[in-house]
Amino acid sequence: MPAHRSVLTLVPLPTKAVLRPGHFTLDADTALHVGTGAEPAAELLRTLLAPATGLSLRPSPDGQFTLALDSGLGDLGEEGYVLAVEPHAVLLRAAHPTGLLRGIQTVRQLLPPQALSDIPQRGTRWLLPCADITDIPRHPWRGAMLDVARHFQPVSYLRRYVDLLALHKISVFHLHLTDDQGWRMPVAALPKLTEIGGHRAESQMGPAGSDTYDGIPHGGSYTRAELAGLVRYAAARGVTVMPEIEMPGHVRAALAAYPALGNHPERTLDVWTRWGVCDTVLGVHDEVLDFCRTVLDEVMDVFPSPYIHVGGEECPTSEWTRSVAARERAVAQGLPNPEALHGWFLGRIGDFLVRHGRRPVGWAETGAELPVDFTVMTWRDPSHTLTAARRGHAVVSAYHRATYLDYAQSADPHEPPAQPGAVVDLRAVHAHAPVPEDADAQAAGRVLGTQAQLWTEFVTTPAHLEYLTYPRLCALADRGWSGATDWADFRSRLDEHTARLDALGVPRHP
Ligand code: ACM
Repeated sequence: MPAHRSVLTLVPLPTKAVLRPGHFTLDADTALHVGTGAEPAAELLRTLLAPATGLSLRPSPDGQFTLALDSGLGDLGEEGYVLAVEPHAVLLRAAHPTGLLRGIQTVRQLLPPQALSDIPQRGTRWLLPCADITDIPRHPWRGAMLDVARHFQPVSYLRRYVDLLALHKISVFHLHLTDDQGWRMPVAALPKLTEIGGHRAESQMGPAGSDTYDGIPHGGSYTRAELAGLVRYAAARGVTVMPEIEMPGHVRAALAAYPALGNHPERTLDVWTRWGVCDTVLGVHDEVLDFCRTVLDEVMDVFPSPYIHVGGEECPTSEWTRSVAARERAVAQGLPNPEALHGWFLGRIGDFLVRHGRRPVGWAETGAELPVDFTVMTWRDPSHTLTAARRGHAVVSAYHRATYLDYAQSADPHEPPAQPGAVVDLRAVHAHAPVPEDADAQAAGRVLGTQAQLWTEFVTTPAHLEYLTYPRLCALADRGWSGATDWADFRSRLDEHTARLDALGVPRHP
């Protein structure tokens, strides 16, 4: 039996938690009393606990462990929950099904860490410490972006990735599906996007600008059924999958498949094998807008996410400046110069998404350049968050020096090759305030939260990806859910939490 804990060591930190003496024991006699609408949460609890514990947690009206929706608890919002553990009863309640899903991750963390293993654990008693917890997130958007364009990961791995997000109460899985180096999203009407755009001949070794290549073809794409299945899997864990389709830049893979979409229709391009910013971008003729709408129609069919990300960043305008057709388009639209086609293009795309009841999302270069109905991700500079919020944008803070997990987590020479230029250590992630200090209440209210980014130029395997993601994502989850937490307290909770990550097989070493 584990020593009686004197504090709860949950990550993220709950809003209010009181530990009491005693414990509830989950065993073969434990049954679930499942209220109306709480069935999906009960099913998730069983799914998560069965591999290690073997417990069936059958349903029974006399069950000692109650899961209930209670519309009287509206103050808890979408994701909040209350959990009471007593020696002979557990009561988990929320106003909304998602709140129950969050509470279940807390139950999981309250159990001994062996409960998180995927192999049967004999000889462990499944004790829940008695406690009263009321828990409401500080920010609704606690995201994690994974780039599957630079290096593909199969859906079987993405499901595990989602499981790890859900453990940390991450609400948004941002799936970066297309880029210069690969197109992973199937579009029935445009099969070459994945047939041609899903494969590149080789990959650059080392940072952008280096001149060595690995000579190894790389590729992969998803089927529609795989992505739809991933969306359902994530939804059952309270995680929304937000797709990203890059435009009008970062499209070299699409141009390799369909050269007529570019500014030089006669030109044959390869799927890019280099890293960095590519100056080949979409043309601005009608056929291109039709193409984007066809792609986004399919994307909206597969992904119910209210938010659809369309990239928008790092789009050199040199091709438009040189193109007669693009210059004529700029004049016809009354734009001052071809550079303004960027905002015009994203405006058309944003309107299309809004007409279909979705919210467009884009990467902000300055916070002041995207149409105002875009939700923006500020990544270059923290001041852009305030610029964008003051302009009326909803904002997600993705400041690269605090949320880009492709940077090394320390300056230790044993760190694997990473995005050069910076170190983003655990403390930097933990310290990052999504809401700027000088924000007035109205601007502050437009900051939805924060998000971690994992770009995968240098990351080819799940083990490497998880090494970079944890524990830094634990810090981001803490900040996003709990607001500012004490660093020493976070560190001591993380020490305990590391046993959970170990039980899940998350690698501690590269
Ligand atoms: C970005 O880092 N390209 C948003």
